[in-house]
Amino acid sequence: MVALLGSASCNSRQQAEQKAADSIDTLAFMKAGDSISGIMQEVLLKNVMQATKAGGPVFAVEFCNERAVPLSDSLSEIYKCRIQRISDKYRNPANKPAPADLAVLESMELPDQAKPVLLSEAGNIVYYKPIKIAMPSCLNCHGSENGQIDPNTMQVIKQKYPADNATGYREGDLRGAWKITFQKPEQY
Ligand code: HEC
Repeated sequence: MVALLGSASCNSRQQAEQKAADSIDTLAFMKAGDSISGIMQEVLLKNVMQATKAGGPVFAVEFCNERAVPLSDSLSEIYKCRIQRISDKYRNPANKPAPADLAVLESMELPDQAKPVLLSEAGNIVYYKPIKIAMPSCLNCHGSENGQIDPNTMQVIKQKYPADNATGYREGDLRGAWKITFQKPEQY
């Protein structure tokens, strides 16, 4: 009886320790995901605004085309993770979601569910954060093809992305998500 109790309390202690470790991981990866995606968003937005100011939307499309992915790659190096933008209606085929990503994007479309999530996928910890059409200026390149996107801009978009899906959005729509993949740490 004593032995049994002893092992039961030992088990629950292990469970408590495991839980604490899990919640520390969860908190740490949530915070890391939040700040990395925040930095990326800030850098991209600043760059798009500067490029638009310098050379108009056509130049800004060219800039996004050349710089968006390398910018993610350089931050991925710094933070030792993989940073991606995904969308069900992707412009760049490199941003095409995997099947597991699609399920997350769908769940983010549900009422009040457009918020960050942390999942365990294939031994990794994956952070997702919704990206919304939060500003009217997004519509200059993602709005309706008749009227909101300037014809010259549309021409460059079509030229760079012949299979573009990323138009027809309205303000407030879910545009896609940040996906940040961290390697799961060794259990402690
Ligand atoms: C000057 C035109 C322009 C503006 C303004 C713009 N985008 Fe984009 N967007 C692009 C281009 C070009 C790409 C493809 C980038 C690439 O090749 O990786 C893109 C890609 C994306 C992607 C990645 C998924 C995909 O479709 O490939 C997201 C998410 C996105 N934009 C959201 C936004 C949001 C939100 C705003 C407003 C804050 C915005 N964009 C403003 C041109 C623009």
